[in-house]
Amino acid sequence: MQNEPTEASLERIDHGVLPSNDLGRAYRFWSSFMGARLGFHANLNGRGLNREVPMIIFFTIANHSGFGLALQDFRLSPTPARKLEGVVWGFEVAAENLLAAADEAEKQKLRWERIAAYPASSPIKESLFVIDPDGNTVELCIRSDPSERAPQQGPVPLRRISHVRIEATDLDLARSWYKNTFGMVEAEQVPGEDQLTLTAAKSGQLFIVRKVAQVAERSTQCFKGPHIDLRGSEASYPTILERFNRKETYWGPDPNLIPWHEPDANTAYGYDPFGNRIQIGIIAKRPMHFGEVARFANRADI
Ligand SMILES: [Fe+2]
Repeated sequence: MQNEPTEASLERIDHGVLPSNDLGRAYRFWSSFMGARLGFHANLNGRGLNREVPMIIFFTIANHSGFGLALQDFRLSPTPARKLEGVVWGFEVAAENLLAAADEAEKQKLRWERIAAYPASSPIKESLFVIDPDGNTVELCIRSDPSERAPQQGPVPLRRISHVRIEATDLDLARSWYKNTFGMVEAEQVPGEDQLTLTAAKSGQLFIVRKVAQVAERSTQCFKGPHIDLRGSEASYPTILERFNRKETYWGPDPNLIPWHEPDANTAYGYDPFGNRIQIGIIAKRPMHFGEVARFANRADI
């Protein structure tokens, strides 16, 4: 029993990648409203154009580098099919309330909705939902117990990723899978019907799961590029990797080898039981860069 790996847990929501049909159009929103600073463009090459590997722009937002947008063939509606459709990224705003953020959203002619009616017990005090040009819902929020972090400069002062909301068809399964696989804990709850809040204990970032009859296609059909990136310590990584039982496999001679360049050696992609795509890795200061994958470098068509 002393070997029971219950201590191994992912500690932080590191970044995310969202689907897009037009990276330039999307980036205008993410830079002009969200304050994203462009990092680099991955796989702008023959393999990317052939959709063998995901074409992604990466940026730094709310002090998180590696947040990105991935180009998709799947047609995304600019209007979500329902409220909080798909994966909703929540960013913590360094402010007393979201009135100034709402003013900025209005000024930029965004579609927005402000909710300040959370009960006192909620770890989120206020939310402002905006819709990006690809119909991804993005949330800005005020946390009841704010982070100390200085905000990144931008039209709205964003300090960190506060949470991510995902869809699931079974909350009990979500609870047990995320607890047992990634060591998430059940702590404070963001009130909401058919909703469960899990926490990455070390960072206090929230993982909010909402029950739906069917997970949105913008989550399940956009599997080339988009993901939720969760990180833990080097010590706990092997245990978590072993527990991550829905790992992605690839074409080519070795189905377990990621066929594009990754800045980190210790990383893996896979899915939760509902089709949400997850990346796991180790918390590290990593140089964000890209390059060719050696075993593809000699191919004639690139
Ligand atoms: Fe990632």
